[in-house]
Amino acid sequence: MSRGANQKEPLEQKEGMSMRIFLAGSTGVLGRRIIPLLTSHGHEVTALTRRSEQASMLRSLGARPAVADAFEPVSLAAAVKLAAPDVLMHQLTDLTSGTSASNAILRARGTRHLVDAAHGAGVGRVISQSIAWAYAAGCKPAAEEIPLDLGADEPRLTTIRGIAALEQMTQEAPQWVVLRFGILYGPDTWYEPRGSKAAEARAGPLLADDNVSSFVHVDDAAAASVQALTWPSGPVNICDDEPAAGRLWVPEFCRAVGAAMPAASNSSAREPWARGADNRHARTHLAWSPRFPSWRQGFDAMRHRAGQGATRSGPQ
Ligand SMILES: NC(=O)c1ccc[n+]([C@@H]2O[C@H](COP(=O)([O-])OP(=O)(O)OC[C@H]3O[C@@H](n4cnc5c(N)ncnc54)[C@H](OP(=O)(O)O)[C@@H]3O)[C@@H](O)[C@H]2O)c1
Repeated sequence: MSRGANQKEPLEQKEGMSMRIFLAGSTGVLGRRIIPLLTSHGHEVTALTRRSEQASMLRSLGARPAVADAFEPVSLAAAVKLAAPDVLMHQLTDLTSGTSASNAILRARGTRHLVDAAHGAGVGRVISQSIAWAYAAGCKPAAEEIPLDLGADEPRLTTIRGIAALEQMTQEAPQWVVLRFGILYGPDTWYEPRGSKAAEARAGPLLADDNVSSFVHVDDAAAASVQALTWPSGPVNICDDEPAAGRLWVPEFCRAVGAAMPAASNSSAREPWARGADNRHARTHLAWSPRFPSWRQGFDAMRHRAGQGATRSGPQ
C-alpha cells in the first residue's frame, strides 16, 4: 500500500515525550506488562483484543480497549485510525491455543493488516515482536546482520517464513524496530514452575544437549519494548548475556522448577542453527541493560519465588 498524499510526517520520538501507542497483543504475557510501563512513562495506550470480556482488565491496567481481530482488516484499520497513534506496537502471537503453523499465518497476515492500518492512519513508527532463533546456521551466537534461515527444512521453515514476512512488512513503516526476543522465561511464561516446559521436565527428563539457546526474562523483554519507542530503525536481539548449551541451562532449569535432573545427551551433535544470539548491539549502542543479565540469576529468582509459594496471579 502506498502512503497517501495527506499522510502526516512521522513524529521523531524522543525520550520523555508523551506518545499515543496502539498495542496489538495487549492481553498476552508481554502486553499485560507493557501497558503499565507505557502509562507510567506518560503514554496513552489503546489496547487491541478480540475478546470484549478483556476490556475491564485492560482498563484496570490503564489502557483504552479496542475490540477487533487482526484477521479482519476493515475493523482493524478503523480501530487504528480512531486511536490515531504515533506508534503501533505489534506483540501478536498465537501460542496459547495455536500451533507454530497458525502462529506463522498470524505473523504473515496479521502483520500485513497491521502495517496497512498503520499506513492508513499515518503512523510514524512500527515496533514488532520477532524471535532470536531464526538465524541461519553458524558456530557463534548470531548478530543481527546474519541472514534468516530461509533454507531450513520443515517444520522450521514455516516459522522462518512467517518471521521473514513479519520483519519485511514492519520495514515498510517510516521508522521501525524489530525486537528479536530470546526464549521468554519468568512469571506467566512456559518456562516457569507452573509453565508447560516445567510440566514437560517433570513428566520425563529433558535432554541436556549441545544446542545453544538465548533467553530473556519476560520483564526485561517488556522493558526493551518500551525503550524501543526511541531506538533507531533496525532489528535488535533482545537476549541476555549468556547464550548457553542445554548441557548448562537444562539442569539449572530443572532445579528451579523442581523437576528431576535431566538426561545427558549421548551425542555432541548440535542443530547447526541452534547457536544463540549476540546482544552486543542492544547493550553497546542502545544502552539496553537487562535486570537479569543471565538466565542463571533469573532461574534462581524463579526458584526463590516458587519456594515462597507464589501463584500465577497476573503481571508482575
Ligand atoms: N520469545 C518467546 O519465547 C515467546 C514470545 C511470545 C510468547 N511466548 C510464549 O507463549 C506463551 C503464550 O503467549 P501469550 O500469553 O502472549 O498468548 P498468545 O495466545 O500468544 O496471545 C498473544 C496476544 O496476541 C493476541 N492475538 C492473537 N491472535 C489475534 C488476532 N487474530 N487478532 C488480535 N489479537 C490477537 C491475543 O489477544 P486476544 O486473545 O485478547 O485477542 C494476545 O493479546 C507465553 O506464556 C510464552 O511462554 C514465547
